[in-house]
Amino acid sequence: MSKLWGGRFTKKTDQLVEEYTASIMFDKELAEEDVQGSLAHVTMLGKQGILPADDVETIKQGLTRVLEKVRKGEIEFSISDEDIHMNIEKTLIDDIGPVGGKLHTGRSRNDQVATDMHLYLRKRVVEFVDLLHKLQAALIEQAKANLDTIVPGYTHLQRAQPILFAHHLMAYVSMFGRDAERLQDSYKRINTLPLGAGALAGTTFPIDRHFVASQLGFDRVYENSLDAVSDRDFILEFLSHASIIMMHLSRLSEELILWSSTEFHFVELDDAFCTGSSIMPQKKNPDVPELVRGKTGRVYGNLIGLLTVLKSLPLAYNKDMQEDKEGMFDTVRTLQGALQLFAPMIATMKVNKDRMRQAVNQDFSNATDIADFLVGKGLPFRQAHEVIGKTVLYCIQQNKYLLDLTLDEFKQFSDLFDDRIYEVLQPEQVVNARNVYGGTARSQVAEAIARAEREQDQTASWVKEYSERSQ
Ligand code: ARG
Repeated sequence: MSKLWGGRFTKKTDQLVEEYTASIMFDKELAEEDVQGSLAHVTMLGKQGILPADDVETIKQGLTRVLEKVRKGEIEFSISDEDIHMNIEKTLIDDIGPVGGKLHTGRSRNDQVATDMHLYLRKRVVEFVDLLHKLQAALIEQAKANLDTIVPGYTHLQRAQPILFAHHLMAYVSMFGRDAERLQDSYKRINTLPLGAGALAGTTFPIDRHFVASQLGFDRVYENSLDAVSDRDFILEFLSHASIIMMHLSRLSEELILWSSTEFHFVELDDAFCTGSSIMPQKKNPDVPELVRGKTGRVYGNLIGLLTVLKSLPLAYNKDMQEDKEGMFDTVRTLQGALQLFAPMIATMKVNKDRMRQAVNQDFSNATDIADFLVGKGLPFRQAHEVIGKTVLYCIQQNKYLLDLTLDEFKQFSDLFDDRIYEVLQPEQVVNARNVYGGTARSQVAEAIARAEREQDQTASWVKEYSERSQ
């Protein structure tokens, strides 16, 4: 059958050109959104008297059958129909005859494809907020179970000060909370309707864009027709947010990989989330976090790829823009996979509390606290720092930790030391002394958990409301 745009052509399209320019191999993923947009468009054409009511009815029934076929996987998409828009239109015309050709009145594939992607991405954004919310819930549960677990905290990957393991986990809850917030904020820009922009300049038909917007649940319409068909900012925003989420997951992955090494032995990932080695029988490899760390690269790549595609593109639509899709779909799949695995992997992770405690007992991460103790006795902090530096050096030379020193040994470095330092140096005391909002003291972390749980409830109701609105 000839092309839908074949009128001005005298020759057949070269086979290689057909294959090179087609997008149906990947944009078939937009089939449901494409039909959804068409249903709203044709309803508006009827309401405006642009198409007679019986034609509108026939087209709507035809589109409904096409949608069923899409859902059952019964449509055979064809490369010679180039993309999802023309494949759907062809299927419709095959079903209801030439009247199907009236659907494209007052519309272009340029505003159509943009509409499809807005419809697609707003659903994904809600799903991702939900997945982030589930991951936060798993982290919060682990935090609750580890409110009394003390672990070295690090800077420069050197032991710095002891912290609650719960506090460490709650840092990630904050990070994923910001990620969810960014996605929620982007929703209002995604939920803007491009349809009605036509190819670039609008249309001669008396269409009602606001009616289509309300039919499809869009909050507003694009102000400018050129912008409507040229804008891919909403995809770039999504790819940026996805990159930041992957970066967060990658940092957590790196920690999980380190923590599950024999050297740290702080956590053990459940067997269900690890794999073995084909040669070394003893191995249990943290493949999931490793792969998430690795896949972060391709998500960044998709962002940089699209930024580069769009750079220097003149207004309005250019075929280059068809390159927006594969990276977007790939990012959606990659992020889905990572988030879906992370929540149960965190939930089932075993925390080796004894080993963490042993690590805390065998380090100098309580050194700041004796410096603070001397400051409390009136010594300027700089001098206290110097005194404790010397004390630590002495310990290292003697192969001891601070708590092993006798009071006489302490007094070699300053007269200001007294018995109370043995209390000050206890890890619980060190942790609980950091009793500031956002600090690691047990009561502060418990409050942080309570606050996070209240936010969880808010996010859950947002997800509920917006998943209904996005259908
Ligand atoms: N398949 C095209 C894309 O993904 C749809 C828009 C085509 N528009 C056009 N004028 N060729 O960008």
